[in-house]
Amino acid sequence: MSHNIVNPVTPEDYRYLAKKRLPRFLFEYIDGGANNQDTLRANTNDFTKYHLKQHVMRDVSNIDTSTRLLGQQASMPLALAPVGMAGMMARRGEVLGAKAAKTAGVPFTASTVGICPVDEIQAATNSPFWFQLYMLRDRDIILDLLKRAEAAGCTTLVFTVDLAVAGMRHSDTRNGMLSNRFSGQIAKVQQIVTRPRWVADVALRGQPLIFGNLKDVVPNPNDLNAYKQFIDDQFDPTVTWQDIAWLRSVWKGKLMIKGVMEVDDAKAAVDAGADAVLVSNHGGRQLDSVASTISKLPDIASAVGGQTEVYMDGGIRSGVDVVKAVALGANGVLIGRPWINALAARGESGLNDQLAIFQKEIEVSMALMGVNKIADINRDLIEY
Ligand code: FNR
Repeated sequence: MSHNIVNPVTPEDYRYLAKKRLPRFLFEYIDGGANNQDTLRANTNDFTKYHLKQHVMRDVSNIDTSTRLLGQQASMPLALAPVGMAGMMARRGEVLGAKAAKTAGVPFTASTVGICPVDEIQAATNSPFWFQLYMLRDRDIILDLLKRAEAAGCTTLVFTVDLAVAGMRHSDTRNGMLSNRFSGQIAKVQQIVTRPRWVADVALRGQPLIFGNLKDVVPNPNDLNAYKQFIDDQFDPTVTWQDIAWLRSVWKGKLMIKGVMEVDDAKAAVDAGADAVLVSNHGGRQLDSVASTISKLPDIASAVGGQTEVYMDGGIRSGVDVVKAVALGANGVLIGRPWINALAARGESGLNDQLAIFQKEIEVSMALMGVNKIADINRDLIEY
């Protein structure tokens, strides 16, 4: 790849620039997957197994990429996935992500473990967004977070269920990511001093670098390591579908269950009252060797698509991939690494550009497939 990409276009271009910009432990936190990273690779590679059909000589002068995602108008079938610690990758990164999403006309999802709290995002964008939550042991904290999310105008709760325990991301261990050990701290200092632009932008001017949504409940607000420990202790591996039924009773907005990979789980999510299921393996960051999400999507969409909305994430790297997912039954997709890399590399304008490219790619694909509306993209247009 070129040494200096002046006009980045693809997620791979922004990935390259983000790598040059970020300290290694942060870049690899974004980039890595669990264990041998087989699922991480499969998520992207498996898109090549599906082929779109080219149809010619149809009037495609009125292409419309817009659609509705959980009752909300969107410019294309795409939303920004929850990405923890976005504010470590760019100055006040969650706010920038939400602003770019608003400019593009797509939903933004704030992570539980964001740097900017939901009210900061709301104040900066003044438009509705989605909020992601994990089940925490202390249900009062859950109720408090839901109240704050609702007050900040969150319309949809994205409830992540594939984190009963944290996956084994070896690069994070290797790099001393969130390590309290002296050797880990030293390793990070070495990585940071080679990235002065990141230091100036984020470390100095991006404060406070704390988990904003949790600052009132964590014992040691200025210590990210203490936060990490708190969150690890709070992850609740006892969660079952009954807890989702409880959640359904306390959250009045839309509920999306994130991390469903099997048909029986998708049916259980519907039974528990989900408005949407998100076929996701956490971007290959949890169970390594589980199948790619695009290969799991068709069966889940067939099984529950009539009762609930179906979304997918993992490995989407272009508008062409978005069209494939829609053809296989998705109402929409979420992107993780593509948005955070664009933001890390080039800030809000980089993300604006990346989202515009995705939309253009969707539009051009539709034109060359001979369809004018998102609703007309169906399984007849894909083969494998
Ligand atoms: C994530 N993901 C994630 N998911 C979630 O529910 N809560 C979170 O806080 C995070 N944090 C997070 C950080 C980083 C750096 C990454 C890359 C991912 C998972 C994310 O929402 C999504 O499922 C995947 O990123 C989708 O795969 P792609 O688009 O990155 O291939």
